[in-house]
Amino acid sequence: MRFDILTIFPEALRDLLSTGILGQAQASGVIDVRLHDLRSFTDDPHRIVDDRPYGGGAGMLMKVEPFVTGIESIKASGDGKRRTVLLSPQGRLFRQADAADWARLDGLILLCGRYEGVDERIIEFVDEEISIGDYVLAGGEVAAAVVVEATARMMPGVVGKFDSIESDSFYDKPRLGAPQYTRPPEFRGLRVPEVLLSGDHAKIEAFREAQAWKKTTRNRPELLGLSLEETTKHG
Ligand code: ADE
Repeated sequence: MRFDILTIFPEALRDLLSTGILGQAQASGVIDVRLHDLRSFTDDPHRIVDDRPYGGGAGMLMKVEPFVTGIESIKASGDGKRRTVLLSPQGRLFRQADAADWARLDGLILLCGRYEGVDERIIEFVDEEISIGDYVLAGGEVAAAVVVEATARMMPGVVGKFDSIESDSFYDKPRLGAPQYTRPPEFRGLRVPEVLLSGDHAKIEAFREAQAWKKTTRNRPELLGLSLEETTKHG
């Protein structure tokens, strides 16, 4: 799968997306990450990508033309089933289910905004506007990295054991993964739950299931449709 990222800071993403499992996935050819400098799609000598907003207001907006020229150039260099996504705090929230869906595409084109956002006309040239959470980042680069990493993990051959994906938080149920432990069996008086040392796989599975629900109730009650009040009752 190909990931094309349009950004004014391609160098900021290079190391991050070449490290660990993403680096291995690139080396083995499962994913192909292409970073594009948005400024190379400008047509003025100063390579300007931003301008003042019409109607006034603080800060600068990203211009629409470099993004559209960039999208068109990227689309001309490949084919297959692709999706073009603008990263922005005004977008629909990105979820695990999107990562799983997008992992089946041939390509994802990710647009990183900066400053106060992008000229709204960009919406006509993208399939979707996506946010990674209800907070405002300085730009879409970190959000694009989040989308690449979450999506790539869902592709066969990227995470060593596909099994380890199935026990992830959010994998097929709206709940968190179970707490895990490794050696030593006791650390500063804190013991690993005995059942995990028992070798009884059915019991271990049941224990993990119960712990996962407990943790979800405590940390993310809204995933279970519970209010905070109900959560405190459940402990
Ligand atoms: N750019 C700035 N904030 C963002 C967010 N929360 N998600 C995606 N892109 C962003």
